[in-house]
Amino acid sequence: MTEIENRKKDHIDICINKDVQFEKTLSGFEKYQFIHQALPEIDFNEIDLSLNLFGKALNAPIFVSSMTGGLENGKVINENLARACQNLGLAMGLGSQRIMLENPDSLESFDIRKYAKDILLFGNIGAVQLNYNVGLEDIKKIIEQVKADALFLHLNPLQEAIQTEGDKNFAGLLEKIFNLAENSPYPIIIKECGCGISKELAKQLSKTKIAGIDVSGGGGTSWALIEGYRAKNETSLDIANIFRDWGIPTADSLVFVKKQIKNKLVFASGGIRSGIDVAKAIALGADMVGIAHPLLKLATISSKAVEEKLNQFIQELKITMFCIGVKNINELKNTKFLHKLG
Ligand SMILES: Cc1cc2nc3c(=O)[nH]c(=O)nc-3n(C[C@H](O)[C@H](O)[C@H](O)COP(=O)(O)O)c2cc1C
Repeated sequence: MTEIENRKKDHIDICINKDVQFEKTLSGFEKYQFIHQALPEIDFNEIDLSLNLFGKALNAPIFVSSMTGGLENGKVINENLARACQNLGLAMGLGSQRIMLENPDSLESFDIRKYAKDILLFGNIGAVQLNYNVGLEDIKKIIEQVKADALFLHLNPLQEAIQTEGDKNFAGLLEKIFNLAENSPYPIIIKECGCGISKELAKQLSKTKIAGIDVSGGGGTSWALIEGYRAKNETSLDIANIFRDWGIPTADSLVFVKKQIKNKLVFASGGIRSGIDVAKAIALGADMVGIAHPLLKLATISSKAVEEKLNQFIQELKITMFCIGVKNINELKNTKFLHKLG
């Protein structure tokens, strides 16, 4: 196995076998509560979660957030996620495709269009790779090879800093992102990986031609801790534990970013653990809401298992909408029944 393949295998094994969630910093959605409406005046069966994005019809504003690819069990995971998304009419993000630039054989594990011909599909690569010889042509190639509709360009400075072999040169990246977005024929969404996007960065990114931001904030999976477990020495694990709760809670990041970004999409992910969280994120302005870790283990089992979990999120979202009397996503975005506690 190559270094990247080994790393990806470690990530999956650690995520499945260890507690790698934030401990004290929560997603921020706990600070909000919907005001129950005892007389919702709508028919539950008429609740409509559908929307359109990048020319694709989606049955709900929920997507499977980027996870993996490039190794044997990554292929199974991606296939199960893709089949579930196709059956439910949901969008999906692939894991980082950097490995495809090093090992063309790894394409097979990302090549999920055969199971999911209709879904909105996001490719993925780290923005830091723009400082390590990856350019527009490479990015176009990996998007085209998997027939993705758009790209998640991820930011993960904390993870790279803790990862022993991490790519740590983040200097000058904003300008490279600016140029990439200017010239890319594909929509680009900037995403974090569980530490959130600040309002200052959102303001800078609002001046680029990116299509949007996925805040991927704190309160869910802690990449600091995952890299700490990989490092196999006590000091690195100690450092990782210090940074376990580092990040802007997802709900806070969402509110800041939404204020800065006009006429661009804003997605929320990081610690989304129920359909109520999904509803709160949409009521706070998210266009789509992403889920990663809760689906990982299920994706090693079957597409049915993933589908059941995603269906649970959908049911919880519908029940939330019913109990506040909103019958579609637009009404949910404009509800006056989400209150900040305290
Ligand atoms: C096993 C695993 C692998 C991941 N790999 C990637 C990746 O390759 N690229 C990326 O942008 N994010 C990656 N992420 C981060 C997720 O997309 C997401 O931003 C983060 O886990 C927060 O969501 P969660 O709390 O629902 O897990 C990965 C997450 C998990 C659990």
